[in-house]
Amino acid sequence: MLRAIYPGSFDPVTFGHLDIIKRSSRLVDELIVGVLNNKAKSPLFSVEERVRMLEEVTGDIPNIRIVPFGGLLVDFARRAEAGMVIRGLRAITDFEYELQMAQTNHKMVPEIETAFLTTNLEYSYLSSTTVKEVAAFGGDISQFVPKLIADRITEKIKKKESVD
Ligand code: PNS
Repeated sequence: MLRAIYPGSFDPVTFGHLDIIKRSSRLVDELIVGVLNNKAKSPLFSVEERVRMLEEVTGDIPNIRIVPFGGLLVDFARRAEAGMVIRGLRAITDFEYELQMAQTNHKMVPEIETAFLTTNLEYSYLSSTTVKEVAAFGGDISQFVPKLIADRITEKIKKKESVD
């Protein structure tokens, strides 16, 4: 049984993430999408909101679980009995950070392998950060995230603006 973890912040999930999720779910028996709970990063969405949104947009994938995690990824992988970590590579600029992370994780727990999927060219420019920035300035984000997510981002930004 091959169980893999696709970890990330998913603040929020984009079409680029969904592409990696769909493709990697076909390569493994079970895919766990690990949602990082890191308060130091001050995300736009709480970890519960990010988990819920991921559940909503991946409801059609049978072999997937969305699970929040904190602490080290390798500890989470061990607890979940996953032998593989999957990451998406968009461009050469991702490579250095991803290599460093994969090698550090491998040094800590050699049984856990990291596998990379290259992002579909259509989404190679996309990041959660730019989506949030476009939305914050009132731009159209419908080609970057599913409608349901776009609506949540707009709602959240409006709420934040009324508080600030
Ligand atoms: O979506 P992101 O923010 O690029 O995902 C980064 C993530 C969650 C994969 C990475 O920050 C992570 O694994 N964090 C957990 C802490 C950890 O294990 N750090 C050591 C890796 S060098």
